[in-house]
Amino acid sequence: MNPYIAEAVAEMDKVNVSRLEHPGASGMDPSSCRFLAGFVRALGAKRIIEFGSGFSTLMMAREMEPLEGNYLLSIDDSQHYSALAKEAFDNSGCQAKVEFRVAPLRPRFYGPRLLLSYSLPKGLLEAMGPFDLALIDAPHQDYGRESVLYDIFPAMAQGGYIVLDDANRADTERAHVRAWQAAYPQAIDPVLLEGIGNGLGVIEKISEAKPAYPLSGALSASLKTVRNFRRLLSRSEEEPPDNNA
Ligand SMILES: C[S@@+](CC[C@H](N)C(=O)[O-])C[C@H]1O[C@@H](n2cnc3c(N)ncnc32)[C@H](O)[C@@H]1O
Repeated sequence: MNPYIAEAVAEMDKVNVSRLEHPGASGMDPSSCRFLAGFVRALGAKRIIEFGSGFSTLMMAREMEPLEGNYLLSIDDSQHYSALAKEAFDNSGCQAKVEFRVAPLRPRFYGPRLLLSYSLPKGLLEAMGPFDLALIDAPHQDYGRESVLYDIFPAMAQGGYIVLDDANRADTERAHVRAWQAAYPQAIDPVLLEGIGNGLGVIEKISEAKPAYPLSGALSASLKTVRNFRRLLSRSEEEPPDNNA
């Protein structure tokens, strides 16, 4: 087994997930949180990026807090949930350097694949990297998870890791990992930890590579994107108003 994964599994029982702080169903599964914290510890990760702000932000920030030069860039598509995550972090007393950013999800082509993609200024991720660790915990229902790996790959350190939450789901995350393997056949090494939470994908970046976006599955991924973008627009209309906006 990969030594960092083995160490994180050994560490995870020592990690406390406060029931008072954990947000329940909207947050990462508590076991996944424990692994994530153990993994940050095992890697000594101090430059981290995540897509999907929330409780995970706090779990990772607390682990990297003692490390000099720590930095976590936490990106969410929702102004409302980003603000809630920032408030929880600010109230926690954790002194790690965390930057929250809102980036709306918009359709974008990756070769033949039309995917929902976080709209970020061009070059931002590369400028803020290289990252030791990335967490992909974007909204469920297929909102923006496949595109994230393509976007962050150039900004990841060689030997850095990407953790994908809910990795057991057959039609979504497992399909994303297959597409990523096709796009970067020699450059990534994915491991599926089926028994932790809803499954965690742990993907090592082995080497630099240009993606060969696969044609296989492109039509169904693109049709899903059109459907999900419409769903996303109606979700935005229903989202609770942000009083601080
Ligand atoms: C799987 S959640 C992110 C969870 C985050 N990584 C955590 O550990 O709490 C994915 C997205 O759902 C949204 N979200 C967060 N809390 C929510 C809630 N209570 N109800 C609905 N959506 C929520 C946010 O926009 C977030 O990006």
